[in-house]
Amino acid sequence: VPVQRFDRPIVLVGLMGVGKTTVGRRLARRLGWPFRDADHEIEASAGRSVSEIFADFGETAFRDGERKVIARLLETGEPMVLALGGGAFVSEETREVVKANALSVWLRADLDTLMERVSRRNTRPLLKTENPRAVMERLMQERAAFYSEADLAVDTGDGSHGRTVIAIIDAL
Ligand code: S3P
Repeated sequence: VPVQRFDRPIVLVGLMGVGKTTVGRRLARRLGWPFRDADHEIEASAGRSVSEIFADFGETAFRDGERKVIARLLETGEPMVLALGGGAFVSEETREVVKANALSVWLRADLDTLMERVSRRNTRPLLKTENPRAVMERLMQERAAFYSEADLAVDTGDGSHGRTVIAIIDAL
């Protein structure tokens, strides 16, 4: 099925662990588009991991870099699938850049599913705390209003990311 009639970049938003990177990679492959991951772009330009950036420069510096990287990528006007870090869409500037240049998709999952997925890899500085579940729950509440500004919302369920990819393509 040709899906190429759609030519704006697709930006995936949602909480840590929801599957933005996995879904994004597969969606990009399906569309024949490049895949970009905002966290990886920041890591490449800083020459450090996200954890190291948080530790060495602080979250504010990370957020500054994140906004710049996202704006730079989207202003190229090239079709791409772009996975944002979970906190990126909290920035009004980033929401505006995304709205002006891309179709945004909010990937959703329930708290248990998110915790299950993030517990596989302990790479997120915000979750290196006594009670990561409480942090995730708080972020879920704080960010829902921002994420809901995305053009589409797709439930990832607890099943395969393949179905999420299909749901996005169907919605294009
Ligand atoms: C963050 C999510 C992370 C990364 C950073 C902060 C957040 O990205 O950008 O650790 O504030 O939710 P993922 O959503 O890809 O894990």
